[in-house]
Amino acid sequence: MTDFSFELLGADGGARRGRVTCAHGVIQTPAFMPVGTAATVKAMLPENVAATGAEIILGNTYHLMLRPGAERIARLGGLHAFMNWPGPILTDSGGYQVMSLSELRKLDENGVTFRSHIDGSYHTLTPERSMEIQHQLGSDITMCFDECPPYPSEKADVARATQLSMRWAARSRAAFVNRPGYGLFGINQGGVHEDLREQSAQALKEIGFDGYAIGGLAVGEGRALMFSTLDFTTLMLPTDKPRYLMGVGKPEDLVGAVARGVDMFDCVLPTRSGRTAQAFTRRGPVNLKNARHGDDPRPLDDHCSCPTCRNYSRAYLNHVVKAGEIIAAMLLTWHNLQYYQDLMADIRRAIESGTFAAFEADFQSQYGQGDI
Ligand code: GUN
Ligand code: ZN
Repeated sequence: MTDFSFELLGADGGARRGRVTCAHGVIQTPAFMPVGTAATVKAMLPENVAATGAEIILGNTYHLMLRPGAERIARLGGLHAFMNWPGPILTDSGGYQVMSLSELRKLDENGVTFRSHIDGSYHTLTPERSMEIQHQLGSDITMCFDECPPYPSEKADVARATQLSMRWAARSRAAFVNRPGYGLFGINQGGVHEDLREQSAQALKEIGFDGYAIGGLAVGEGRALMFSTLDFTTLMLPTDKPRYLMGVGKPEDLVGAVARGVDMFDCVLPTRSGRTAQAFTRRGPVNLKNARHGDDPRPLDDHCSCPTCRNYSRAYLNHVVKAGEIIAAMLLTWHNLQYYQDLMADIRRAIESGTFAAFEADFQSQYGQGDI
């Protein structure tokens, strides 16, 4: 088995073109990871997710430990076999989801105790338990256990969470079982504060990780503050390791973050939007509930190669959305994932040909212009 590795293949301004190699395959970067929280990318068969061009998906420690349980998935051969996704999987570590989803949380130096949002049962996550669960799942990329402070927070509270996350990063590193092809990513915290991001980055680099995530963004600070925070944060991270911006984002966020040196992304937006009738197109988001689509024989996006755009009219999509048919979620999710993967492929090509600045300007001039 080859080692976990990252090769920087090229750069264009701040934008980077790279390749991550891990146990279950190779990921071309910049990459977008569809979210498969509960061992499914909702409304999609895994082979259809792969058909959109996705090379890696994300799973969640929090959801899978509660249901069906990490020990059960391990007995059934691990997450790849369980969900029939043979490619790379990255798992988030659970702390972020505890904070956003569970009730009656108690956080201390050791970890977080919480009640399940599913059945109210009590559970504890620590750095050590999170590493054990991600090992049982068989994740190609394991994420450190961290604390993401809410936004806005007092700087003193962000500092406390950042320092706790650094101690948890050291415990995560110590508990992670090193084996060829499997990597562990640290998570930079510090909110929008340059000095805290710097402390966090220094601590993570001293511990040493296979990749470096940027956490604690896209939590309500807005695009301008997220971009200005990225401007200084990516400069603090090693150039020879992948950089992953967690939970981001809209198409315009991905383009702007790539310009600032980010290599990997995940977000529920394309899949969740697909279940709420929102579709992404080159001119911006379109709502298929809108009655103006009711008689429209055109495809959603005539530039798109996905089965939705090849085989169905806007009128049909409007009908199945209004009728609450399951196929509405399937067709719109497929299209949205295709849109995101096509965007990443366009970004990678632009970096390769040294035309990323022109690509970004062109994207901005078209996106958000309104549907035709
Ligand atoms: N997903 C989005 N933001 C974060 C974060 O700060 N930490 C973790 N673990 N997951 C995230
Ligand atoms: Zn399409």
